[in-house]
Amino acid sequence: MRVSIIGGGYVGLVSAACMAGLGHSVMLIEIDENKVEAINSAKSPIYEKGLAELLSAHVGRNLLATTSYENLARSDVSLICVGTPPLPDGSADLSMIESASTLIGKALANKEKYHVVAVKSTVPPGTTQNLVMPAVQKHTGKNAGKIGFVMNPEFLREGLAVHDFMKPDRIVIGSSDVRAGDVFESVYQGIDAPIIRTGLIAAEMIKYASNAFLATKISFSNEIGNVCKKMGIDVYEVMSGVGLDHRINPHFLNAGVGFGGSCFPKDVSALISLAEKMDIAPVLLRSVMDVNEKQPQKIVEILLRRVGDLKAKRIAVLGLAFKNDTDDVRESRAIPVIKELVGRGALVAAYDPKANASMSAILPEIEYCGSASHALTNADACLVLTEWPEFADLDKEFDLMRSRVIIDGRRVLSCRDAEGICW
Ligand code: UDX
Repeated sequence: MRVSIIGGGYVGLVSAACMAGLGHSVMLIEIDENKVEAINSAKSPIYEKGLAELLSAHVGRNLLATTSYENLARSDVSLICVGTPPLPDGSADLSMIESASTLIGKALANKEKYHVVAVKSTVPPGTTQNLVMPAVQKHTGKNAGKIGFVMNPEFLREGLAVHDFMKPDRIVIGSSDVRAGDVFESVYQGIDAPIIRTGLIAAEMIKYASNAFLATKISFSNEIGNVCKKMGIDVYEVMSGVGLDHRINPHFLNAGVGFGGSCFPKDVSALISLAEKMDIAPVLLRSVMDVNEKQPQKIVEILLRRVGDLKAKRIAVLGLAFKNDTDDVRESRAIPVIKELVGRGALVAAYDPKANASMSAILPEIEYCGSASHALTNADACLVLTEWPEFADLDKEFDLMRSRVIIDGRRVLSCRDAEGICW
């Protein structure tokens, strides 16, 4: 099939590369000319395992990036993958969705053949029906009946996005009518996964509910962990026993300093905002966010108990990214922790294998080190905030500290004298 994808962020670029890998002819429409140039030179603007190989194999053959919508009508399916960042009140900013829909409508104004417009961006339930469809149909006039609409949420984890695209647990296809869904299913030909066919709004809600549930599992584990720590028992032992129940499963029960990233905080907040607009009190979801907001403070409380006043104390922070295998620091739990340390007069020496540069754009006032050893040298204490596997090997490096006060926020250390945030 000929597929046009709007938005070359991590969802759009990964989807474009994977769809080219499935044999489709893909045109990626991206407003950032530098990104377009990089992609057309098979240079990926983001790191995702397996993405560079897909770009090298398909760019110039059945994958092309452009800033223009002029050839969109030649495709059979258009996929909207633009960002929906949170507004100050927590609701989703849909301005890029609206502009993409309008430009798609204009590009399809004279197309006679049937076309499917699909939304892959994470959008509040009701958006495809109430915003995308009218914005497209406003410009297609007589041909409005020749356009079908689909909502196809993504479930891609950063760092594993190519894997998650090619080996999904499920494919969700919400559609305005059966024909649109049938046409869109062909996009996933060659991928072996259960397909859920449903309506547009239900598909949007499946995405939000999935992320909100995963975030709930994490906050649940953290709340149990905070109780376990007071009782002197290991929450990881407890949750491994809980997770063996097939109805619960072991995944996303790792207690620690909380969840970050561009998705969980944004999606849970958007769902809370949606419920409140309907005069429904999202008590559970508010608690999920409340536990997550408070968790970073727990690690600071332990630090204060161990070293007292932080003024002029050198505190090593290992791990800045919101999780391992990425340089992304969006909503990273390291941000509130470091702000609290700096606010108490501590001298923070930070190290992350990939995210030093990203974090220095947000917190320029702290020291960034090129290695864990550099950060640990003469430190009064050390906090571990990201689950980088390389931190598991640290032990003798902690002898570089003035005192071995080591607090692990991600259960990643193997040294015996580390204290856990909630274990
Ligand atoms: C998430 C969802 O997993 C993915 O399906 C969705 O499409 C996008 O959002 P992502 O945000 O990339 O993916 O990261 P994920 O691996 O889910 O981790 C999110 C955060 O939760 C990280 O900060 C991670 O450290 C934390 N986490 C994860 C825990 O604290 N405990 C866990 O058990 C798992």
